[in-house]
Amino acid sequence: MTTAETGKRDWVALEHQYYQGTFKRQPLTLVRGEGPRVWDSEGKIYLDFVAGIAVNVLGHCHPAVVKAVQEQVTQLVHVSNLYYNVRQIELAELLGVQSRGMRSFFSNSGAEANEGAIKLARKYGRLHRGGAYEIISMDRSFHGRTLATTAATGQASYQATWVPLPDGFKQVPFNDLEAVKQATSEKTVGILVEAVQGEGGIYPATQEYLQGLRQWCDEQNLVLICDEVQAGMGRTGKFFSWEHYGIRPDIVTMAKGLAGGVPIGAMLTAPRTDLFAPGDHGTTFGGNPIACAAGIATIKTIVEENLLENAAKMGDYWNAKLEELSNKYTFIDSPRGLGLMRAVHVQHGLAPVIVQKALEHGLLLNNTSPDTLRMIPPLVLTAGDIDEAAHVLDQTLAEVATLPATQA
Ligand SMILES: Cc1ncc(COP(=O)(O)O)c(C=O)c1O
Repeated sequence: MTTAETGKRDWVALEHQYYQGTFKRQPLTLVRGEGPRVWDSEGKIYLDFVAGIAVNVLGHCHPAVVKAVQEQVTQLVHVSNLYYNVRQIELAELLGVQSRGMRSFFSNSGAEANEGAIKLARKYGRLHRGGAYEIISMDRSFHGRTLATTAATGQASYQATWVPLPDGFKQVPFNDLEAVKQATSEKTVGILVEAVQGEGGIYPATQEYLQGLRQWCDEQNLVLICDEVQAGMGRTGKFFSWEHYGIRPDIVTMAKGLAGGVPIGAMLTAPRTDLFAPGDHGTTFGGNPIACAAGIATIKTIVEENLLENAAKMGDYWNAKLEELSNKYTFIDSPRGLGLMRAVHVQHGLAPVIVQKALEHGLLLNNTSPDTLRMIPPLVLTAGDIDEAAHVLDQTLAEVATLPATQA
């Protein structure tokens, strides 16, 4: 299929013809990326504050990831988990250092990592809590698109069409310790929480809440599972977002940024819950040498380039810019979030309009709802990139301010 005038292929029409209608896509076909920038099929450049939804932590095509993948692909593309795999062990070792002693299991996505965590928690329940199996998770949470992780996701809109969902999940309000205590019964085996809720709109847990959950789990013999799929890999200025809270979870799930853009998931466990035995769980592709080589390069680069410090510093700088904009434009509120994981509340349901206009001006943003503008850029961002993004956002908001909706 081609457009008559240019003879170029019409990617939008081809997508409609051949791809299932699962995604609400922006009118943009991306063909190249470098650092925090991407290029569309017409050659236009965009500053990317979406980063593959918190995936491209090192920006696009970081030389370390490119080199690691190129080298690995010439040595060994895939081996079964029937055999030892050097890259898999090396990546698990790096995560063991970052987590101070947890052991890893690799999968291919965040949902799969959470499935593993749910199974592991159920095994804990069977062995150590009288057959308990129920997981308490939070309203506004997001844990994936499989049936079990949909059941764990605290957003009715993701669940309604798929009932009956698997049994053994219950949601309570976020940041409400008392609600967790009330919901706990002899059936409860664990608590699943994002220290900073991502898809829900970037809401950090309070100190008292996360510390209270840890204490409640200790008192009640429950398993604390932290979903770090979006907030992990340095995004908040610490390698794991739970490190801001002075707690240690029993199980941690990761994915997204772990291999700098190559698909991977991970489920880490502390010794207390390290209960999987041969045959309990498995995967064909999980821990694949290419994904693990990319993961090794990503973690080493985060350390070598001081990207945790950069994420914290640039996060504060971006927050200050957003604060200035929220003072200038009454229809956006003060920002919230941690490090380079930020959001602003937008009045009059105008977040999609801002996303659309920012895109036209060369800045990619994302809205998690009509009221919430989310910004999750690469951790390699410089102050110059932020100045540029703030300038474009200012221009965009000035245009939006002239719309009748903002006068209401
Ligand atoms: C916190 C969290 N958990 C789990 C997932 C699911 O990850 P995936 O899409 O890789 O299955 C996501 C995806 O957005 C997420 O943000």
